[in-house]
Amino acid sequence: MRTKIVAGNWKMNNEKTETSSLIYALNSQGDFGSTRVIIAPSYVHLAQAVSLTVDTEIEVAAQNMHEATSGAYTGEVSPAMLSSIGIQTVILGHSERRAYFGENDATLAKKVTNALDHDMDVIFCFGEELEDRKSGNHFEVVKSQISNTLFELKSAAWSKIVLAYEPVWAIGTGETASPEQAQEMHAFIRNLVQEQYNGSLANQVSILYGGSVKPGNAQEIFSKQDVDGGLIGGAALSAADFTTIIKSI
Ligand code: 13P
Repeated sequence: MRTKIVAGNWKMNNEKTETSSLIYALNSQGDFGSTRVIIAPSYVHLAQAVSLTVDTEIEVAAQNMHEATSGAYTGEVSPAMLSSIGIQTVILGHSERRAYFGENDATLAKKVTNALDHDMDVIFCFGEELEDRKSGNHFEVVKSQISNTLFELKSAAWSKIVLAYEPVWAIGTGETASPEQAQEMHAFIRNLVQEQYNGSLANQVSILYGGSVKPGNAQEIFSKQDVDGGLIGGAALSAADFTTIIKSI
């Protein structure tokens, strides 16, 4: 059975005390069953988050990392730095990184390789813009984002990859993909992986949906066959909402 995952991408939110309070509140909700629960605070608070989640069900991920191992890259953070404070998972390819920080498929391929070289898990994000969907180009866009970045990987590396389909038009807009649209795209993605690799590998890969997932719509989206959980933005900033979403699986 595929791993169910709910991950909270906090983006550039929460200062030090808010980070602690939110983690305390999540810890107090307890028992998330077999669902893998991940939070991604800012770099500044990762060490704090790791220490507050020791011996809990909550894992801590980074929202990004640099593609190089070390060196003269002012302001950047390497996978070795993340590993050294106990971070085992990194989100890569978020549409905000692509749109505002110029990340492209080639950079992301290097980032993925570097993360895997440091034995980290990768939550790899991709998704089409509104114009792509309106013009019926959404499958092609998603196919090229995935294949340009991930299809050079060896089969064995895929045990460390989680896919996150986040249609850009649904992020932070309150407009979510319908459960049917999510299922259609997730099935398409799983089929792509099957064609490139094989059915058993494709069946093992968790594919998350992200984009305006809220307590009120999570259950219906998560009920779809190829949706293995969610990558949550705004609703992950509330312990009550995030917990409700986790328990919707
Ligand atoms: P929202 O849930 O706020 O739409 O954000 C989704 C997202 O970008 C998660 O990475």
